[in-house]
Amino acid sequence: KTDDCRIIEFSQHHEPSGNLTVVEDYNEVPFDIRRVYYLYDVPGGTERGGHAHKCLYQLIVAVSGSFDVVIDDGSGEKVISMNRPYYGLLIVPGIWRELRNFSSGAVTLVLASDVYDEEDYIRDYRDFCSFKGLSCKDDTCNSP
Ligand code: TYD
Repeated sequence: KTDDCRIIEFSQHHEPSGNLTVVEDYNEVPFDIRRVYYLYDVPGGTERGGHAHKCLYQLIVAVSGSFDVVIDDGSGEKVISMNRPYYGLLIVPGIWRELRNFSSGAVTLVLASDVYDEEDYIRDYRDFCSFKGLSCKDDTCNSP
């Protein structure tokens, strides 16, 4: 459900020399982080994402610049504007997501609960709708 997706606020350390934000442990991130990747040099007007995951949890952070994340659980969409490096958007399994309106120089950091596995992707929206009628088998998910 999109209601299970939420913003997590990370700790901030403000110094005259600059700011530092820490993402750590289960208190903040409700999954073990097994992969980190980031998007950068995204041309203006690009839309990314356009898929769902069967089992993967992700945390999306605008470490620089801004972009919008559209999340959809098959029964409605929500748009979340990401524009602060100390907020993470938790996306649970079974959510269709699109990323758009990237600002110039935006960097999207993604923390993920598992390594890359194309089998975990649902890239066709019709397949996503049929998937929503099924449940994710616990024994195939590396998630809490
Ligand atoms: P893709 O998932 O299509 O990007 P997005 O959803 O952000 O638009 O991934 C783009 C390419 O990168 C695709 O060829 C798969 C590859 N890729 C990996 O090899 N490993 C990864 O961890 C990720 C996220 C993508």
